[in-house]
Order: sequence, then structure tokens, then C-alpha cells
Amino acid sequence: MEPPKEQHDHGPLKFPEGFLWGSASSAHQVEGGNVNSDWWEWEQKHSEEKRSGDATDQYNRFEEDITLAQNLNLNSQRLSIEWARIEPKPGIYDETAIIHYKQVLKSLKDKHFKVMLTLWHFTLPQWVSDIGGWENPLTGEYFVRFLKRVVPEIDRFVDFWVTLNEPGVYIFMAYLEGVWPPQKKSRTRALYVLWNLAQAHKKAYQYLHLRGGKPVGIAQNLQSYHSSHKHSLIELFSVYFSDIIANHTFYNLTGGCHDFLGINYYFHRRFNRNKRLFPTIEEAENQHREVSDLGWEIFPEGIFDVLEDISNHKPIYITECGIASTNDDRRTRFLIQYLSEVYRAIGSGVRVKGFFYWSLTDNFEWHEGFAPRFGLVEIDYKTLKRTIRPSAYVYSEIAKHNKIPHSLLRLLGHTIRVEEVLCYMHDGPKALCEHFND
Ligand code: FCB
Repeated sequence: MEPPKEQHDHGPLKFPEGFLWGSASSAHQVEGGNVNSDWWEWEQKHSEEKRSGDATDQYNRFEEDITLAQNLNLNSQRLSIEWARIEPKPGIYDETAIIHYKQVLKSLKDKHFKVMLTLWHFTLPQWVSDIGGWENPLTGEYFVRFLKRVVPEIDRFVDFWVTLNEPGVYIFMAYLEGVWPPQKKSRTRALYVLWNLAQAHKKAYQYLHLRGGKPVGIAQNLQSYHSSHKHSLIELFSVYFSDIIANHTFYNLTGGCHDFLGINYYFHRRFNRNKRLFPTIEEAENQHREVSDLGWEIFPEGIFDVLEDISNHKPIYITECGIASTNDDRRTRFLIQYLSEVYRAIGSGVRVKGFFYWSLTDNFEWHEGFAPRFGLVEIDYKTLKRTIRPSAYVYSEIAKHNKIPHSLLRLLGHTIRVEEVLCYMHDGPKALCEHFND
């Protein structure tokens, strides 16, 4: 006989054994001083607050950040290495940069983290950009040459490889919207870049896969699409089409070259025809929807939808998911809501094996500069002091116990206040444990 629903509803949400609880970052956004990259060049044309500068100075403070992650009970980390640092000139490798990354990765392994390493996260060496960046098919060859130099040095410290971060977002921002370097608005170039990135992934996959053992994938930004009016055929068609293009094209071009699916989830889009012929995407804010400080809609069900949609027999890792907010109550709610949806997806049979919150610390959010606050840990950009936010403790407890206690789920019906969360901690570990024993 099935347990009565109520009884079931009062249980904690236990995640599968061995679930990875981590945070994600990328080198350019945290390290600082990435002077040989195309982004650095580009930033110099912009105002001071839009330049990465010292970022969070993680290049020098990596031990402190790794220790923070360890103290927060995280068991895994996703990070990237910076091609522009390692190969600042064609074929010339900077040994000190390689030694540096070895130290970072070794420190993570010494502290028993599972390490997911991204090999390209939006930035290119300036010399690669000078030859046309990803528009040039040779860039894929140079990328693999770079991997052949660096991977043998570091692969003993790595558990998962992510070849490319969000190819679709990169193409959209750099070649369609023309906001990111190289700021070219051209559909033809966008198609070349898509093709070249797909070829680069396949070559990198073959190389890494042949070395054996470690799973290889990409981090793909998946967007959840809906129509505002279910009876509008043209809106439904837009949903279908956008889903295919944004969520599936790269996988279709690189079929057979993914050992796992890495999913970054941030966006929910609603198409609205609004008496026009062709629908456009609604501004969530104008529709009185809840949004983050970047205007991105808070839509927890979306992560369930995209997971259900993409699910096949392969393991899935949420390689990024997070909220830009200066209000930590909202981050706390975000975590509980989104993780509940991930749990629901697991319950429905999706093989989600880990979750990497974006990000451990506040960081440089590309063309948006330093204003968006994604961190579990706050950065004071004047002093670079790190201060753990209360939401980090909530995430930490979930990670430690591998479950969302029912008491936290109950909070969802109410306004979540930092004070309430703080009282979990101030009651001391005993009280905290009680919450986690339910
Ligand atoms: C993702 C990027 C990551 C970060 C987050 C907020 O699209 O992969 O670098 O900027 O958005």
C-alpha cells in the first residue's frame, strides 16, 4: 500500500549517496590580472568598474578560497584554467602558470575535493583573437595543441573535464548581440563559430577520452521556454524552435562525444504574441514576475523542465546555477527552491549526480562588471576580504547532510529572513542537528 501522502510530505529530501555538492567559477572572473587575454584587451576600452583588474585576486588567494569551500562542507569544485596565461604567445608556454595550476589542483585534491576542470570558459589568448578567434578553424587545432601540452601535467588531479563552457551563450553574446568581444554582429560568422566550436569539442573529446578514465563533457546553458497563451500556435512554434536551437543544436552537432551532460540553468523565457504577428520574449520584470538583480526570472520549475527534457541515459551534473542578489534571504530561498526541483527531477528518474552553485564568491560578471552579487561569500572589493553569507551556511548544511530537511522546506511558505537563518547557527550545532534529523 502506498504511504499516506501527508506522511510522505513530511520527510526530508534525501539526495542519492555520493551526490556532488560544489560551487563553480571561471579563471578570468576570479583570478585577476589576466593580461594576455582578449577580454583584458577589450576591457581597457571600458570604464574602470567594467574592468576585471585584480578581480577577487584568487590567483594569489586560492588557498583561502579552497579552505572556505572545505569549511562549507563542499565535496567538489568546478573551476577553469586560463589558456591566455599558460600560452601567452603561440607555442610559448609559461611554466610558472602551469606550476601555479598544479598547486591549485593539488590543494583541492589534498582536501579530497572532486575536481571538474573547464578548459575554455569564454576567454582567448590575445594572439588567438588576432587570428580570428573561433571564426578561424585553426583555433580548434591550437586549442588541442594547448591541451596536449597541459593535460599530461594536471590530469592526475582532475576527475571530470569540461571542454567548453556555454558555446551557445558565447555565440549569442559575441556574434549575435555583439556585446562581448570580438563584438561582431553577424549570423554568418556566428554559424562558423558554432561549427568550429563543435569541431574543437569533438577533437578535445577524442584526445581526452583516449587518455582514458575521466568523463568528458561540456557545460551547456539550457533555457526553459513557455508560451504565454497555450492556444497561440505561433507562440508554441517559437517555443519549439527556440528549444531546438538554443538547447539541442550543439548536442546534435557533437553527438557521441559526451560522457555526461553538464547543465547551467539560469533562464526562463515566455513567448508572447501580444496582438503582433510574431511573438517576442516577455520582459519578466514587466510581467510582475520575480527576478534577480540582473532581471533574470526566478523560475525554479524551469530547472525540473529542462532536466526532464534533456535526460537520457547519461549522468547529469548541474554545472552552474545561482542568483545575482544583494539580498541574501533571496539566495537562501533560491537554493531551497531550486534544489527541491532538482530533487523532484531525480525522483522522476533523471540521473542528476551533482550541483555546483554559481559561485563560491562574488566575482567579475563579464560586461556587467562587479555589481551582480552571485557569491555564497561576499567580496569587499576595496580590501578583498571574504565574508561568508548566511545562505552559504544553509547550503553547507544541505551538503553536509546530503538532504534538505523538512524544516527548511517549511520556510518556503513564509518570508525567509537572514535572522531566521542566522538563528539556525546561533542556536549552536545541536539545534542545527535537530533540524537535520527530521
Ligand atoms: C554563465 C557563465 C558564468 C557566469 C554565470 C552568471 O552564463 O557561464 O561565467 O557569468 O553565467
